[in-house]
Amino acid sequence: MSEEVKKFKVTVDGQTVEVAPGTTILEAARQIGGKSVPPAMCYYKPLETSGGRCRTCLVEVSKGSDADPRPMPKLVASCRTTVMDGMEIKNLTSERTQEARKAVTEFLLVNHPLDCPVCDQAGECHLQDLGYEHGVSSTRTEFERRTYEPEDIGPYIKLHMNRCILCARCVLAANQLTGNREHGILFRGDHAEISTYLNKALTSEFYGNVIDVCPVGALTDRTSRFASRVWFTKPVNATCKCDKCSGKAVLWMKGEEVIRVTTRQDEYGEAEEWICNECRFEKKDLKYWNVEGPRHIDRHSVISLNHYENEKVEQNLVNTTQVLEQKQIEDNGR
Ligand code: SF4
Ligand code: FES
Repeated sequence: MSEEVKKFKVTVDGQTVEVAPGTTILEAARQIGGKSVPPAMCYYKPLETSGGRCRTCLVEVSKGSDADPRPMPKLVASCRTTVMDGMEIKNLTSERTQEARKAVTEFLLVNHPLDCPVCDQAGECHLQDLGYEHGVSSTRTEFERRTYEPEDIGPYIKLHMNRCILCARCVLAANQLTGNREHGILFRGDHAEISTYLNKALTSEFYGNVIDVCPVGALTDRTSRFASRVWFTKPVNATCKCDKCSGKAVLWMKGEEVIRVTTRQDEYGEAEEWICNECRFEKKDLKYWNVEGPRHIDRHSVISLNHYENEKVEQNLVNTTQVLEQKQIEDNGR
């Protein structure tokens, strides 16, 4: 008979949840959901060993556990700290946490250019959201920002190192999704940079996923750069027949044009399933896809505010279906 594992009681901002031992504070907070979930710029659940780099997820532990109720003296990274039974955590309700998050945001922006007006990630950038919520209105940076020339890493991906916050998600994604390690973080400290070894192009069939894991606009899709602001596009769930990946993706549509293809992501921006490069970069036509319907975007990003899910989209999908049917008739006629 299997022994039942005793669950731990954890309280985040006054809300209690029972979780399995070994759960991190961040994952426990996600089980509660809502505004008590700390932001995470480097943690990414589908990627093993992610987290512990950016410090945006810092929280205050006001009670260590039932066995040892002393508070923890310093704020802890919630993505890397596991819970104890009876632990009490303050996120939104802690002034120290909010102050620290403000400082971390300022630090992440020390070298980050304020180029949201021309950045493809604007509207779905986690740093932009963080800056909006915790940023200060003016900069204290007096020295010159670190700058790099944008670089093409392979035929499909553009690297803007200026925008990189060195979260290492892309490195972990590349290591864990592909057989060959072709890029990583070179150098240390403020010289650290993402680069492909000896300027090799990224070539694996799943490398495109590094674009989706990047929380900022440092890695962008060369096949859809500057094609449209994200808030002018409408995301739809679609599937295609693919022997490399599940073929489950989100198409970002402008009228009947497929502007870009991405993974399906949850409310924390984490991919539900990885997609291959062929689906992402080479199937920019509705003839490859079976459209299921509007994609509900759960994040508090601007994209979830543009009411794409209302009747206009339904109408658009009807039109799209009509176009597809017409294409089918024409193809059959040839
Ligand atoms: S390129 Fe993007 S994903 Fe990679 S380390 Fe920089 S910010 Fe993170
Ligand atoms: S999300 Fe925890 S340190 Fe980055």
